[in-house]
Amino acid sequence: MEGGWSGSGGLLLCLTASLLLQGRTNTFTINCSGFDRHGVDPLAFRTAFKQKNFRPVINYSIPTQVNISFTLSAILEVDAQLQLLTSFMWLDLIWNNPFISWDPGECGHINKLTVTTENLWLPDIFIVESMDVDHTMEGLSAYVTSDGHIVYSKPMRVTSICRLDIFYFPFDQQNCTFTFSSFLYTVENVLLGMEKEVWEIVDTSRDFVSTHGQWELLGIDKANPKLSMGSNIYDQIMFYVAIRRKSRRYVINLLMPSSFLMVIDAFSFFLPAESESRAPFKITLLLGYNVFLLMMNKLLPPSGTPLISIYFALCLSLMVVSLLETIFITYLLHLATTQPPPMPRWLHSLLLYCTGPKILCPAALWKENVGPVLTPTHLPGLTEPRGLVGENLEPREEDLNGGSGMTKTQLTDLWVQFSHMMDTFLFRLYLLLLASTIITVIVLWSS
Ligand SMILES: *[C@@H]1O[C@H](CO)[C@@H](O)[C@H](O)[C@H]1NC(C)=O
Ligand SMILES: *[C@@H]1O[C@H](CO)[C@@H](O)[C@H](O)[C@H]1NC(C)=O
Ligand SMILES: *[C@@H]1O[C@H](CO)[C@@H](O)[C@H](O)[C@H]1NC(C)=O
Ligand SMILES: *[C@@H]1O[C@H](CO)[C@@H](O)[C@H](O)[C@H]1NC(C)=O
Repeated sequence: MEGGWSGSGGLLLCLTASLLLQGRTNTFTINCSGFDRHGVDPLAFRTAFKQKNFRPVINYSIPTQVNISFTLSAILEVDAQLQLLTSFMWLDLIWNNPFISWDPGECGHINKLTVTTENLWLPDIFIVESMDVDHTMEGLSAYVTSDGHIVYSKPMRVTSICRLDIFYFPFDQQNCTFTFSSFLYTVENVLLGMEKEVWEIVDTSRDFVSTHGQWELLGIDKANPKLSMGSNIYDQIMFYVAIRRKSRRYVINLLMPSSFLMVIDAFSFFLPAESESRAPFKITLLLGYNVFLLMMNKLLPPSGTPLISIYFALCLSLMVVSLLETIFITYLLHLATTQPPPMPRWLHSLLLYCTGPKILCPAALWKENVGPVLTPTHLPGLTEPRGLVGENLEPREEDLNGGSGMTKTQLTDLWVQFSHMMDTFLFRLYLLLLASTIITVIVLWSS
């Protein structure tokens, strides 16, 4: 019994030793004579191909080093609703197969051959963030070099999960992670390495990404933390890919038309308040803005509330405010010219204060600058030709000081003057709101 055990044990040891010795002396060298004349002899690769179901190492306690490189060729879609990034990449996997090697000197300097991947062991490298199964086409080949390097390149469409933030659309940047890891093999079996430096990956990818689609590659950062799940530790390499949206298209299609409409809206305050066309003009602008928003809706991200939507909403509200202002002023003027109500004393003092020549009242200054535009020429319901405001002021002041009531014309004049003052004041308020909106949005965008 004892002897039998020791006998079989010795046999096993002998076998192992001979196998290992074989490995050392590299009996796995392929006889490649005739490759350059009769083509590749499939029989020569028989041993290597038979091994394809197992990880190709001679000593199983040595992990296989799989080196990774990729070229990002396109950013196809950024879906902020599902938080998915769809990209296309060419993945390169490089590892060693010690069972394949030959001496190129003996076979007409053939240094590398292609071998279909069905005949080879393939590392199961996958992207952890990927939310789709790998649709790699079948029947791909890999390069095999004479010293056993296997270079396997495959195209991959990757739909990966990524935290996307479209608040800064269309000036947004995204930072998405691609974590390459082996699905099955722990660190004892497969180690990951880099085939190229990260900057080389960035360099080759940048041109492809910017020519395909509406994103540009900013940079890639790398980290390789180990992932431990239970008692297993997996090797992984993380790439943080930073991309930026090309915003020119959106600036031309979204921001410029909107700004033009806002500028026209601001300038429409220079239309005389008495003119009948001011309110219809503003309504037309408002309609135009709505049509613009409807048409440009498909350019905006379908979900979420980016800053630009808030900006558009603010612009729309400013236009509505400007229309309301026009309605208010038109009402005031109408009231003034048909049946002017008595003017409260404080209002009159304010009016005097603001139209006084020495006092620096912003509305008055403004009035001086654009006097001719705002001075009414034809007032409906006003038959008497009006003199200059300054001339009319003196007697009215006396009237008021005397405590007696004013004539209807004087009252009308005062109210008209007040309307213009209100118009100017509200216009400045509007400009202030517009400016603060624009400045806030620009500051937020540039941060
Ligand atoms: C390689 O194979 C050829 C025949 O295909 C044979 O003549 C040659 O001896 C072999 N060389 C070795 C080293 O086995
Ligand atoms: C196999 O590799 C392990 C780890 O490197 C080493 O300890 C062991 O001695 C190797 N076995 C042989 C037979 O060389
Ligand atoms: C992988 O890369 C490392 C260096 O990064 C290198 O030492 C090793 O030989 C490479 N392995 C293969 C199989 O190319
Ligand atoms: C992307 O995010 C990771 C952490 O999540 C960070 O380490 C990396 O620096 C970021 N990259 C860029 C370009 O912001």
